[in-house]
Amino acid sequence: MICDNLSSHNGVLYFNGRNTLSLAQEFGTPLYVMDEDRIRANCRTYRVAMKESFGENSLPLYAGKACSFTALIRIIKEEGLGLDVVSCGEIATAVKAGFPMENAYFHSNNKTDGDIAYAMDRGVGYFVADNKEEVDAVDRIAGGRGIKQKILLRLTPGIDPHTYAAVATGKVDSKFGSAIETGQAAQITEFALSRAHVELAGFHCHVGSQVFDSDVFLRASDIMLEFIAEMRDRFGYTAPMLDLGGGYGVRYVDSDPVLDIPANIAQVSKSVKEKCQSLSLPLPAIRMEPGRSIVADAGLTLYTAGTVKKITGYKNYVSVDGGMTDNPRFALYGSAYTVLNAGKLNEKTDLECSVVGRCCESGDILQEKVKLPASTCRGDVIAVCTTGAYNYSMASNYNRIPRPAVVMLSDGGKTASVAVRRETPEDVLSLDV
Ligand code: LLP
Repeated sequence: MICDNLSSHNGVLYFNGRNTLSLAQEFGTPLYVMDEDRIRANCRTYRVAMKESFGENSLPLYAGKACSFTALIRIIKEEGLGLDVVSCGEIATAVKAGFPMENAYFHSNNKTDGDIAYAMDRGVGYFVADNKEEVDAVDRIAGGRGIKQKILLRLTPGIDPHTYAAVATGKVDSKFGSAIETGQAAQITEFALSRAHVELAGFHCHVGSQVFDSDVFLRASDIMLEFIAEMRDRFGYTAPMLDLGGGYGVRYVDSDPVLDIPANIAQVSKSVKEKCQSLSLPLPAIRMEPGRSIVADAGLTLYTAGTVKKITGYKNYVSVDGGMTDNPRFALYGSAYTVLNAGKLNEKTDLECSVVGRCCESGDILQEKVKLPASTCRGDVIAVCTTGAYNYSMASNYNRIPRPAVVMLSDGGKTASVAVRRETPEDVLSLDV
């Protein structure tokens, strides 16, 4: 099995100890299922590893863009992580979950004045300012309120993280951040230091997502620390905080490597400490922003198969009752997933097929070249594994398809509760006037 919270009993797929066929029957399909125990375990892995490697002053921030709903953010709060938020919707979710907003970090490459005011009204602790205009806007809006707002500056260290293009963000020509190489980063630092209503708390970078190459974090932290030393020498400013972003990869298919996150964090910490020593810098308070590696393997999507189309001599299709509306990642990035017939795990998988959705679009594909049992037919439950990250959060109402429910499995699967209820056609209509 691709994740150890999946198991097989008498040919039936179990997730965190629960029979997936029974879950599909009880809650309907398509259905996102999430494993609370795994989310908590992943949070603890980061908490412990960062504390051991970087000390009490460090903190992992969960990147809510990977998946955000109230019950999930409540878990993040209970586990003591900080939170990376990118929109008013994510901020509202955090507020509803009772999240301590002083530990929230507001990202995005283009915060409107309205966004900035909304976040300040809710006490967001840190604004991660992407560019000079944003520093200026935060300073102006904070000034209007007579407050001083803590900010980090997002910088692009100029690194290619060797992942797929849509999620590579650390290169100089990225839409995100201010580049160190072009001198813009230094200019914006000087500018931020001159503003009366912002407090420059440090620097941030995020080089990419689904990254397995540990060298990427070592090179990024080196460049960032050299920049911190340069700013000290030029402006007498020593950044107290360094946020290294998120990006650790997860296993979607058997051929993906296994990443030892604590070992990787220990390696980054060793390199950061050595670099600090060589530059005579104190160790900054380190932040990391994992999203995918907190929730991906805590998620599974269940579908019901409909049409099974065999075009002899060409191709086979198994259509399911969801698709790119609940998981657009294959359509967008060609992402690999492990797909199983949840009730027929004991059967030989000799039907090669494309598992496709129900949208009126040929690109509505969940996965190609999937091996399923030849007996796969209408009514079978199809499971797509490792869907906890960037599935629910990227879901849409294309074709006015209502979005699936999210069910949370807790306490070793003893309880299964609806965390987000299933949308109805009436929900889809609810904003029409
Ligand atoms: N911090 C920042 C500033 C980010 O932009 C991201 C992800 C993260 C943290 C979290 O990265 P993670 O640990 O999840 O890799 N929709 C794409 C992924 C986009 C990632 C965007 N930024 C996908 O489905 O693969």
